[in-house]
Amino acid sequence: MTAPGDLAAAEAMLASALAEARAAIPAAGTLGALDDLERAALGKSSPALSARAAIKDLPAAERPRLGQAVTAYRDEVEALVAAARERLSASEAALALDRDRLDLTVGGRGYRRGHLHLVTQVWRRLEDVFVGLGYEVAEGPEVELDWYNFEALNFPPGHPARAMQDTLYVRLGEPEQVLLRTHTSPVQIRIMEQRRPPIAIVAPGRVYRRDTLDARHSPVFHQIEGLVVDRGITLGDLLGTIETFVHALFGPGISSRFLPSFFPFTEPSVEFAMTCVFCEGAGCSVCSQTGWIELGGAGLVDPAVLTAVGLDPEEHSGFAFGFGLDRLVQLLYGVDHVKTLWEGDIRFLEQY
Ligand code: FA5
Repeated sequence: MTAPGDLAAAEAMLASALAEARAAIPAAGTLGALDDLERAALGKSSPALSARAAIKDLPAAERPRLGQAVTAYRDEVEALVAAARERLSASEAALALDRDRLDLTVGGRGYRRGHLHLVTQVWRRLEDVFVGLGYEVAEGPEVELDWYNFEALNFPPGHPARAMQDTLYVRLGEPEQVLLRTHTSPVQIRIMEQRRPPIAIVAPGRVYRRDTLDARHSPVFHQIEGLVVDRGITLGDLLGTIETFVHALFGPGISSRFLPSFFPFTEPSVEFAMTCVFCEGAGCSVCSQTGWIELGGAGLVDPAVLTAVGLDPEEHSGFAFGFGLDRLVQLLYGVDHVKTLWEGDIRFLEQY
């Protein structure tokens, strides 16, 4: 602060404040910092205000000189501030423009490529295994006639085995004659109607049943059917074929078992199961404490079925099998509930 009435001291203070302002104001980095500098140089406690207050204490002859010095100081500082403000405003606007700019040359983020569903992957692996064994891949309709799904397969109307494969009927044609197929076995009949032996086909596909959802059952699921018809086909051929495909998928160490069973269209019939991979045979909730998980049914084609499609059972024989594909995937990948495969949770799906 100047001593009252001291012109030289007031002038010196203004000069040094001006020198500081000349250095600091053009160097301000932001509009906020510039506001602070402006306040310090021209505000209430600034040198300009102190000098102006000192004027009245000077002798009359000296007053104009200090008045002019204060005005010159203020004019220059204001000019410095105005120039700096213009510069900073322009560069901050440029920054904002740059930030908000839409750069069309950057390119998009792209789509992440998906992959086939786990069941489709296993479906294709199975086709490869069987094509390698000399089979062809065949298919049939999911909306099927009662004739192919049941009757030609030896399930006459009212047969108790029909009750285990209840399904939805479609209002088409004769009442109760068109349905969602309950297994892939109707493809056997369609193929035997069209072709003469030797026949070796697999027919994977989707099937439907009025089953309640549990760990191993779903109302919509997948099966793969196999059919071989030729001269001299025996149960040994069937068992060897199944063992070959199980080893191809699970490796040679896995246990499998065949139990006598019943299907109207095979004679003899077997049921085929594998060691439960979840408990390694000890018994758990997935395998209903049995240590085994049923994979499918199989057997030699019933002579009545061969006759129904115009083949002579004295001349030709054959075997057929049908496995649950979803069930197989559960065993291969340790998926303990079938719904996990179909509920569409990306955290599950993207692991495979
Ligand atoms: C059949 O469907 C016969 N067509 C199999 C067959 C073919 C026998 C050729 C003889 C000759 P089954 O109803 O047992 O049989 O079903 C076969 C397999 O499908 C079962 O072992 C199981 O692996 C699977 N499966 C059956 N129901 C379901 C379901 N609701 N959900 C998931 N998989 C199922």
